[in-house]
Amino acid sequence: MRIAIITGASSGLGREYARQLHAAFPEIEQVWLIARRRPLLDELGNELGIQSLSFPLDLSNDKDIESLARRLDEERPQVELLVNCAGCGYLSDVADTDSELLSRMVDLNIRALTLVTRAVLPYIMKGGHIINVSSIASFCPNARMTVYSSTKAYVSSFSLGLREEVRDRKISVTAICSGPMATEFLEIGGISGNSDMFKSLPYCKPQAVAAGSYAAAKRDAAFYTPKIFFKLYRVLSKIIPHSILVKFVKT
Ligand SMILES: NC(=O)c1ccc[n+]([C@@H]2O[C@H](COP(=O)([O-])OP(=O)(O)OC[C@H]3O[C@@H](n4cnc5c(N)ncnc54)[C@H](OP(=O)(O)O)[C@@H]3O)[C@@H](O)[C@H]2O)c1
Repeated sequence: MRIAIITGASSGLGREYARQLHAAFPEIEQVWLIARRRPLLDELGNELGIQSLSFPLDLSNDKDIESLARRLDEERPQVELLVNCAGCGYLSDVADTDSELLSRMVDLNIRALTLVTRAVLPYIMKGGHIINVSSIASFCPNARMTVYSSTKAYVSSFSLGLREEVRDRKISVTAICSGPMATEFLEIGGISGNSDMFKSLPYCKPQAVAAGSYAAAKRDAAFYTPKIFFKLYRVLSKIIPHSILVKFVKT
């Protein structure tokens, strides 16, 4: 059976990836929806028009990732699409942030993304796709979101390296570098109302980011950055030394 696996599917961008899945990949017969809140996954599954399975997993917990790996080993599905979308980011200086929140960002954005990818990789079919949700925060460190931006630099770097490793298997790997989106992320991260930078930036719509991501994966793009404004920022971040740019991109 051909399946898709989407992490962070219970809200925001991940939910949008699930909603657009059938239109973008009609050949996929089943989707595995992963996040902690089961009722939201079940509700989403009922509206998708394809078979869906809810996996209420806490991906910051190794045991939960191992249970996903075991399920894959039992079912041995043909995975056409893996979307690593689960992520979190908290606004505040490192010295003012609880260690638990710092760990949560590293565990979910780096460790879980890496281990989920490792668990799924043996089952990704020739011609399949991996979409890793990074951020414009990966372009240059953002003070006050130093750990978050560093985790997303990892996601972009990991994606590019993995892309070379799986090229011979004809698997595409695409890192998605979106600007801000009005999702739960902003409230959970304490960003809403507390960041002049977030107030001044143009916002991306999750619907458009999901659609653009799928198109980018199909054309085997290494990166997808929505909006001209953020494409320009990406170019500038390659030209201007980060030791200078970092002073102007504080969140
Ligand atoms: N919103 C933005 O401004 C923005 C900009 C650029 C990039 N991004 C990236 O976009 C991705 C999606 O974020 P979003 O904006 O859609 O935010 P969101 O609505 O908060 O979605 C985050 C998703 O991750 C899941 N999640 C959180 N902790 C988890 C855990 N421990 N285990 C399993 N799942 C977990 C959440 O579900 P549960 O709570 O049910 O577990 C939710 O489905 C993230 O990687 C984020 O870094 C966001």
